[in-house]
Amino acid sequence: MIRWAAWGGVAALGLLLLATAGGWLVTDGPLGSARVATGPASLQIGGPFSLTDHRGRAVTARDFRGRPMAVFFGFTHCPDVCPTTLNDMTGLIAALGADADRAHWLFVSVDSERDTPAAMADYLSAFDPRIVGLSGTEEQIASAARAFRVYYRRVPLEGGAYTMDHSASVFLLDAEGRFAGTVDHKESETVALEKLRMLIGRM
Ligand code: NI
Repeated sequence: MIRWAAWGGVAALGLLLLATAGGWLVTDGPLGSARVATGPASLQIGGPFSLTDHRGRAVTARDFRGRPMAVFFGFTHCPDVCPTTLNDMTGLIAALGADADRAHWLFVSVDSERDTPAAMADYLSAFDPRIVGLSGTEEQIASAARAFRVYYRRVPLEGGAYTMDHSASVFLLDAEGRFAGTVDHKESETVALEKLRMLIGRM
């Protein structure tokens, strides 16, 4: 269980929205959204992780240093926000053109049970091929989510199925792995592109 209380996050009605230096982090759950709490501007977001990419290679955060990165946590069975965000990300990558190669684009699964590397590869084939899917064991995913202060929760559905409630912002990190802001899925493409160009250093 992630200990939000330690840094000011508060869950309300099973939902969470956390303010950071870079913007709001909105959960992508079945219950809608609620707004609560402010975290300190110095909040540490991003850190070491050890996961498996959608080609089956073991990777760590170190493998992605040297370029800024945009990181999104979600899961392949997500009905709306994840595919929308990955579609938006695909559009932003296209708009950036060759500059998009100067960043890493990561989609990290919070669903260890269903999101095998093969499932991630299959799912990501619908989006820009520069987006790298990362998954892992329950423990590896929990550790990566902790490093990014990402909230997620398994939500049982009728008939034994389940969905995942999860934070829905895209995190931006600079080439040294330092938190540089977020892109929220409700922001305009213009604003998102401005943030990404600043991150990549092409304003
Ligand atoms: Ni989602």
